[in-house]
Amino acid sequence: MIKMIKLPYSIDALEPYYSAETLDLHYNILYKGYVDNTNSTLAMLDNARKTGDFSNIKCLEKNLSFFGSGAILHQLFFENLGADIPVKPSLKLMKQISQDFGNFDNFKNQFVEAAKVVEASGWCLLVWVPIFNKLEILQCEKHQDLTLWGCKPLLVLDMWEHSYYLQYKTSRPNYINAFWNIINWNEVNKRFIY
Ligand SMILES: [Fe+2]
Repeated sequence: MIKMIKLPYSIDALEPYYSAETLDLHYNILYKGYVDNTNSTLAMLDNARKTGDFSNIKCLEKNLSFFGSGAILHQLFFENLGADIPVKPSLKLMKQISQDFGNFDNFKNQFVEAAKVVEASGWCLLVWVPIFNKLEILQCEKHQDLTLWGCKPLLVLDMWEHSYYLQYKTSRPNYINAFWNIINWNEVNKRFIY
């Protein structure tokens, strides 16, 4: 069984960049749904193993990937947000960003452009790819499609409409621009330990 993380800030802490109304819906309803559905899928898989009845296994494996990835990405998202945190990318991360993107502005530009055109519902992610020994940016569709196996998400941005529509309506660029004001780089730096 997995548990919801506690938000490391108050529900209105990310205002005005991320409204309390959006965060409340996103965390208390939608994120909870992914955690609950992951747990029910895990329970059904456990039951299938106990009974030896794998007649529904295709559906269960798909649900595990979808709901489980949804739960994981939402946890990463809420934890890589924060307000008034005067921390920037660590020297180690900045050095890697410079090596792989040229400089921070180039990285940010690619991230922004990739986020804008995520197809339908998905995510934009800065990831560390151990086997490539480099950082990359991924567009993810739904919660689980278009990944690179073994990559470690460092910074994730939810591009599902539920993450911005209430506040930004159809303006993805305004939502993406606001995001850069509420990144908890302290958390991102911690993830970049390998
Ligand atoms: Fe979401």
